[in-house]
Amino acid sequence: MANKIKKAVIPVAGFGTRFLPETKAIPKEMLPVVDKPVVQYLVEEAVAAGIDTVIFVTNKNKHSVQSHFSRDRDFEAMLKRAKKFELLDKVKEIHNLADFLYVCQDEPLGSGDAVMRAQGIVQDEPFAVFYADDIVESVKPAIGQLIEVYDNYRTSVLGLFKVPKSEVNLYGIADGEYVSERTLLVRDLVEKPDPKSTPSQLASVGRFILTPDIFSKIAKTKKTKGEVYLADAIDDLCNEGKVYGYELEGKWYDCGSKAGFLRANIEVALKRTDMKKDMQNILKDLR
Ligand code: UTP
Repeated sequence: MANKIKKAVIPVAGFGTRFLPETKAIPKEMLPVVDKPVVQYLVEEAVAAGIDTVIFVTNKNKHSVQSHFSRDRDFEAMLKRAKKFELLDKVKEIHNLADFLYVCQDEPLGSGDAVMRAQGIVQDEPFAVFYADDIVESVKPAIGQLIEVYDNYRTSVLGLFKVPKSEVNLYGIADGEYVSERTLLVRDLVEKPDPKSTPSQLASVGRFILTPDIFSKIAKTKKTKGEVYLADAIDDLCNEGKVYGYELEGKWYDCGSKAGFLRANIEVALKRTDMKKDMQNILKDLR
């Protein structure tokens, strides 16, 4: 069956409070894991799953995201003159990855509000949403795994990863019933539950397939601490039995926290042939 999900929304207009002061001038989505910004990992994942249009929800201070995905002919010419052809290919492939569109969120009024900014482009198609908090390394792209579930049920689908019980209070946790080995019908999304009373250990990570009825739910969602959370609007869809969750296959890097981000850098470097030895030596030194 032809892949119907062609558009991805990547909101990059948040405060990034957990990474201040770094995020004063540079968005957290542009932080590098080794030598590539987190947001490029997401775009590559989207493209590998057949998505051809990426809509960034951005703001006036986040020029670097647009610069990264735009063609820079002067820079390309410079690399050519310097005969750095390998680097030239690397730089060229970025803007060729997909069609990039930008919509503006003037004020960081929450992840739900950010996704709402993309409604005019998405219109009445299902679409993917990525948060730059999460990188998933997998054989089949994580978003592609969710697209397969969407193709089965034609509902919104959440990407889930099992976390230790002691960490459930850091995430939105899915409550629901398994309908197959890794898929569950999500009844409720419980925000940061107490480990003692958590409904499960399945954390919702930054990968979603959303059906266009999410927009009317976002429009009705009340603000919490001045923000409209996407999770609250999704919860509303859950109440109507319209959301499935899928336990993703692959390795999840939680780059939304400082420790998780540093760990992602170390682990990814250890997997890179050009970095492995140096990284192992550093880790030996630190022991
Ligand atoms: P987060 O809640 O993880 O991002 O939102 P944040 O608010 O920037 O970060 P912290 O928690 O303060 O450290 C998930 C995604 O939604 C975007 C963020 O940029 C992030 O990629 N977002 C969030 C927006 O685009 N606009 C918003 O108003 C809020």
